Amino acid sequence: MMLSHRVGQACHVLVLVLCLSAAEDFDWSANNHDSFYYGTFPNGFSWGAGSSAYQTEGAWDKDGKGLSIWDVFTHKKGKTFLNDTGDSSCEGYYKFKDDISLIKELNLNHYRFSISWPRIMPTGIRSDHVNEKGVKYYSALIDELLKHNITPIVTLYHWDLPQVLQEKYGGWQNISMINYFNDFANLCFERYGDRVKYWITFNNPWSVAVEGYETGEHAPGLKLRGTGAYRAAHHIIKAHAKVWHTYDTQWRNKQRGMVGISLSGDWGEPVDITNQKDIEAAERYVQFYIGWFATPIFHGDYPQVMKDFIGRKSAQQGLGTSRLPTFSSQEKSYIKGTSDFLGVGHFTTRYITQKNFPFNRGSTYFSDRDVAELVDPRWPDPGSEWLYSVPWGFRRLLNFIKTQYGNPVIFITENGVSEKMMCTELCDDWRIQYYKGYINEMLKAIRDGVNVKGYTAWSLLDKFEWDEGYSERFGLYYVDFKNKNKPRYPKASVQFYKRIIKSNGFPNQREVENWKMKATETCSTSNQLLAADPLTSHMEMVTEVVVPTVCTLCILIS
Ligand code: NOJ
Repeated sequence: MMLSHRVGQACHVLVLVLCLSAAEDFDWSANNHDSFYYGTFPNGFSWGAGSSAYQTEGAWDKDGKGLSIWDVFTHKKGKTFLNDTGDSSCEGYYKFKDDISLIKELNLNHYRFSISWPRIMPTGIRSDHVNEKGVKYYSALIDELLKHNITPIVTLYHWDLPQVLQEKYGGWQNISMINYFNDFANLCFERYGDRVKYWITFNNPWSVAVEGYETGEHAPGLKLRGTGAYRAAHHIIKAHAKVWHTYDTQWRNKQRGMVGISLSGDWGEPVDITNQKDIEAAERYVQFYIGWFATPIFHGDYPQVMKDFIGRKSAQQGLGTSRLPTFSSQEKSYIKGTSDFLGVGHFTTRYITQKNFPFNRGSTYFSDRDVAELVDPRWPDPGSEWLYSVPWGFRRLLNFIKTQYGNPVIFITENGVSEKMMCTELCDDWRIQYYKGYINEMLKAIRDGVNVKGYTAWSLLDKFEWDEGYSERFGLYYVDFKNKNKPRYPKASVQFYKRIIKSNGFPNQREVENWKMKATETCSTSNQLLAADPLTSHMEMVTEVVVPTVCTLCILIS
């Protein structure tokens, strides 16, 4: 009896030690920048590209769609670059068949898009009204993809909350969102789940929480500093878990799909990898980013370091409880393990060092972390201000995820680069360079044992880039937003990405260099096409106006 008790205790300790060491496995001191690796991806690796509803669809008030918080936010002056809105954007709502031809042209295995909640439930509340026209639109899109053998990966929430839910309840600040979101997800499983097998509950909840409810740069534009982001994230994590359980209990047997979440995170590299303080600061940066959401989902609770830092700072402020909400023990076990795969969105890296923020200057998510971010001025930054190209950070992040969350199945849901402002240059060699480097580091991560099953280039088209309006172009295809037909033109990176897909990787140096040369040759022809575009639109006008006039004249004369 005694002995078995001891053995039991020893096992318990062993399990604990194993759990702890599993989460501490990541080797901060080993950042080896190996040379380019020539080789291929595992068979069946899935290649794709992505988009999101508000960023591409347009048709913001058509066919019974309700308002989203982004419709309202962008219609207020001063919220976006040049007051740009997504009202018409790429007109993807009308041009989805054309876009699927582009996807075909690229030979993609999957396409990631999102469903606009207010397009199919105008107030966000199922019992109010289901908009069948909206339901039909996504159904047709899914059918068209499947007809061409392209797997749909569907995001349920890419930031466009129904405005009514914001106005009535305060959006993600309110716990009632959990049930409303679950009803919406359930409708999607009901209507599309026979054909859709990959579901992403939330896209990049970090942005929703921090930019929507803490800094106010994104819709709904609230600046609830030090509390708003934590509360929004808390409800989002619970809503995610609820939707996963709904699928698990009601649909999985019949539909045999997978449900995951897509988390975005920059990599944080210690400024000095031999300095323990820098290592701790870098780890905090990553834990406050991806760990904030991934740790509850994989381990049941927030990262210890978040609980410690936010708790201590809240106490110093004289608050009775932490600004970081807590999960009850039932909630912890309900949330733990609610991801069949992990979606990862990744764009860039920062160097991190420790920096103390005194609590008396006001508390925010940013000051709670006690870190400073730095960049190396030699890192290329072709586009968005925040986006430096640091391919090795991608491999580091993927290895970190592997060690922290028990080597989950990963789909890269977003990775790509933008270009500056109004650039109409289709010869985007900097994007080729970016994709080449990042995809290669992902290949190295797979060789390290990270379980990456698919890659989604972000994005298929240039599109509305949130508060940056149309000033930042992430597309493989250029969209001429000034032309009402919104024509699409392939950038050189289309040719390059196509070759990677065809070879399922990078066969050898000679060939890969040849791809780059060929890609840049074709883009000069496309550049000419783009330059000729005003003429094309003029010619359409001629057909629209002159041809009927000439015909009428002919009839009159005869
Ligand atoms: C992440 C967002 O999910 C996406 O919508 C956006 O286009 C990219 N970041 C680039 O900023």
